[in-house]
Amino acid sequence: MKYKSVVWDLDGVLTDSAPGIISTTKYVLSKMNKRIPSDTVLRMFLGPPLAVSFRELCGMSEKQAFIASDLYRERYRTDGWHDNAVYPGIRPLLKALRDKGCYLCVATGKSTSAAKRILDAFFLTPYFDRIIGSSENQHNVQKQDVIVDALQGNNAAVMIGDRDSDILAARALGIDSIAVSYGYGSDEELVLSRPTGKADSVDALWELLGVEKISQNGYFISVEGNDGCGKTTQTGLLYEWLRQCGFDAMTTREPGGSPVAEKIRAILLDKENMSMYGITEALLFAASRAQHVKEVIEPALVRGKVVITDRFVDSSIAYQGAGQQLGEDMVAQINAPAVDGHYPDTTVYLDLDYRVALKRRKHASEADRIELNPEDFHQRVQDAFRRLHATNRERYLKIDASGTAEDIARAVYGQVAVRMMLSGVA
Ligand code: TYD
Repeated sequence: MKYKSVVWDLDGVLTDSAPGIISTTKYVLSKMNKRIPSDTVLRMFLGPPLAVSFRELCGMSEKQAFIASDLYRERYRTDGWHDNAVYPGIRPLLKALRDKGCYLCVATGKSTSAAKRILDAFFLTPYFDRIIGSSENQHNVQKQDVIVDALQGNNAAVMIGDRDSDILAARALGIDSIAVSYGYGSDEELVLSRPTGKADSVDALWELLGVEKISQNGYFISVEGNDGCGKTTQTGLLYEWLRQCGFDAMTTREPGGSPVAEKIRAILLDKENMSMYGITEALLFAASRAQHVKEVIEPALVRGKVVITDRFVDSSIAYQGAGQQLGEDMVAQINAPAVDGHYPDTTVYLDLDYRVALKRRKHASEADRIELNPEDFHQRVQDAFRRLHATNRERYLKIDASGTAEDIARAVYGQVAVRMMLSGVA
């Protein structure tokens, strides 16, 4: 490895924060009855200290610029930082550097508290030894001072930034610098600032930092629950959030998830097929799963993806094993060759009284063949999921699904993130 310490700029290097910064700047300008400049000018707010941008780009006096910066920080604290995402590929790189014992710190023009809030929200904080920005009401921070504070005397350092101010500060301190051109600095400003190295993608940083690329471990999540518990909504929200955190995530569903498996799904849910025997149904679900695992899930996990599936094998145990009363052990046995060892790392069980869930489901769309089962069937399904949670606590997360979609999502994110961190996934 080429460096013992790496100093990271935040916006435009670790996170793509442009949408949040631009919307907050627009809010401040309209609050102060100032003209809103073009998008090109607004993008120039990304990087330099706020007060400088308000002065130089919007013609404000020093005093006005300070008022604008305070307004900005107040707004960004509550709203702006949500429109933010970790660049894909950053997480595995941070993990690799960390595993090699590298000192990692963040030196940003944002306030320290805002930077920490963002890194906390994306579960990136544990990767850093120190996170430093400006203090809350400090308007004229020098990047050099922030870097010195962030480094705490650690040497053999390199600064990674996307603006000339990052590169020039590194040079003044006598440390190497890497300019990333995927951030917000113009090509011209980066060339003129003469960085030690230049990266046009996160991928290119591996070589410039002298770290060997490691293959990522995949992570498998299933989302389960009774019909109408909100699984599909939560699967989508979890996917969006994991992408925002910089994970290479994908969603899929059962029954179905691959072309052949989707054909089996159509047979399974068709209301014309009311004469289907329970065992036929169980074998068809297992057949659809076998195809789905081989064609979609296994290859994605090998490529290091985070796979989120809307239902998996536990649905068969609950619906066919308990609901249809075929026996949970027997259903688990016929599914063993279909699952082929690919049990989820985490199963999110959305726990909601089956009567409430069914009512919700009926409002949403017409019932399919399985949903047409009598109430006691759905009660048995619920009891089975609760039992599965009680006996598989290392895999299962039980989430109360009676609140709003946002509240449920927040509970899901927090608990899934902890599981993923503990398992060593970046
Ligand atoms: P799905 O399309 O996920 O419906 P919903 O979004 O309403 O949950 O699943 C269709 C139905 O198939 C659903 O009622 C649950 C049932 N099912 C089983 O009975 N066994 C299984 O193994 C799976 C995956 C689903």
